[in-house]
Amino acid sequence: MLILGLNMFHADASAAIVIDGEVKFAIAEERLNRHKHYGGFPALAVKACLDAVGAKISDVEHVAVGQDSDANLRKKFQYALSNPAKILNFIRLRQRKEAMRNVRSLLATALDVDSARLRFQEHHLEHHIAHIASAYYCSPWEKAAGFSYDGSGDFVSTMMARCEGNEIEVLDRVFLPHSLGSVYTMICEFIGYSKYGDEGKVMGLAPYGKDTYCGEISKIAAPKNGGFQLDLSYFKPLGSNQGMQILPDGTVRLARHFSDRMEKLFGEPRRLHTEITQRDMDLAFALQQRFEEIFFHLLNHLYGRVPLEDLAMAGGCALNSVANGKIFERTPFRRTYIQPAAGDEGLAVGAALHTYHSVLKQSQRHELKHSYLGPEFSESRIQSALQSAGLPYRKLERGPLLDEAAEQIAAGNVIGWFQGRMEWGPRALGNRSIVAHPGLPNMKEVLNARIKHREWFRPFAPSIMAEYQHEYFEHDHPSPFMLHVYKIRADKRAALCAVNHVDDTGRLQSVTRAENPMYYDLISAFYRKTGIPVILNTSFNENEPIVCTPEEAIDCFQRTRMDVLVIGPFLVVKPSGKVETTAASSPQKTEEV
Ligand SMILES: [Fe+2]
Repeated sequence: MLILGLNMFHADASAAIVIDGEVKFAIAEERLNRHKHYGGFPALAVKACLDAVGAKISDVEHVAVGQDSDANLRKKFQYALSNPAKILNFIRLRQRKEAMRNVRSLLATALDVDSARLRFQEHHLEHHIAHIASAYYCSPWEKAAGFSYDGSGDFVSTMMARCEGNEIEVLDRVFLPHSLGSVYTMICEFIGYSKYGDEGKVMGLAPYGKDTYCGEISKIAAPKNGGFQLDLSYFKPLGSNQGMQILPDGTVRLARHFSDRMEKLFGEPRRLHTEITQRDMDLAFALQQRFEEIFFHLLNHLYGRVPLEDLAMAGGCALNSVANGKIFERTPFRRTYIQPAAGDEGLAVGAALHTYHSVLKQSQRHELKHSYLGPEFSESRIQSALQSAGLPYRKLERGPLLDEAAEQIAAGNVIGWFQGRMEWGPRALGNRSIVAHPGLPNMKEVLNARIKHREWFRPFAPSIMAEYQHEYFEHDHPSPFMLHVYKIRADKRAALCAVNHVDDTGRLQSVTRAENPMYYDLISAFYRKTGIPVILNTSFNENEPIVCTPEEAIDCFQRTRMDVLVIGPFLVVKPSGKVETTAASSPQKTEEV
């Protein structure tokens, strides 16, 4: 049974194909059209899904969309009636969503086929049920507590559910305008991070702050009876889209969220490219603190209703890996399954799996143990890309290739690492990664100056051989998708200085050989040379969506100051040679983007 899942006309448009309950291929449109967070129709992603499984759209029996404009209508009308200025906006959104419902003609046009040949049944699923479905049905569990939270989706910001067998029973919703995602976005905008998806940057800034504004920020959002409530005076009046717009070209744009009250309390908002002050860091600190307090209030309430130790979680806020790393201390939950694509691209998988299990009552489960659901490229395709680029390369057997790559990392060089199928979700997890030595004092500055150009305060992440996690980190729960931040043990901080954040934490990826043998063996080879079972892992890109094709990887390698490219079985060494591995430079407290 062939099911196509879609997230469309929403940020991070994507498609996924499910065959007999197993996710066979999934990809965000941004990786194909190179338009970050693209929010239009995922035409290229649909084609890639069908090509990957050798199917035609006429073979597809069900199409499932992770959005349902009819969901929560009563709440939407109530809000519109009590906020008359928003009615026009509400009607406009409704019209756009009606247009979106014509999935059949959208697919027929995108794939250039006669819509009469399309025989699929169409399903629309409420946004947050799709999020929870994306986690629960991919988890190893037959029952679990389900949780989803983000900015907004189908007029809801937070959902709690009991998941059992084929069913997801919704227990609670928090409706707009009350949204933890909106609180995060609002303060991010205030301190100069106003692009869609900037929240992760501010999470990295938070530990540089102090407890100056915690009292004030805690007034913005307060826990309430297992939910939470915002003080709306800190916000611009919210439309029913919470200020997120999709422009005709698919660009996702955020409108200003914060009200004049924020300026009265905290002064001028920070402008991009200006100095980050202690005030901005303190606001980030207070924001993360309050976010966590409410998050754990919600989770503890959920546990009260679903007293199981397993938590299946998704939604854009589930990418807050700092909060995720504290779940085990602050709640009774003992295991988490967090979708690798926890943000909105994951809706495509959730909608498709929900159709399979809950609508069609199929019970065959397939745990998603890895995120390698994207395209892969043949050796001959890679070779011709190298030849077209005029790059001298060597082809090596697996053992010597791993050994030389590990030697290059150990020597302090920066390696572009391109292998196998591309990752699903926002993290590079060892197939489209840039890797480096985690224990060289200035590696972070080297990477930023030469390739990544990221803000000085953002940490780089460690990939660790799973069996050594307990020796290096203070928590043992696996983090296969780089979605948990744990403290690094005091005696290991020096060895991991390039991935040790200012608060002595790391957003680790625990790597097992079963999930990614090539990447695991690379770390293992590095371990044999250095005694460190960890490498620094950052995404293979330079201010663009993560590279997908060999050509994009080669282009990124050539235009940046990466030293070595390992792509399939081929190894390319730039003649320029060594990185400056000594004399760490002091970070500048301005933005480098
Ligand atoms: Fe969402």
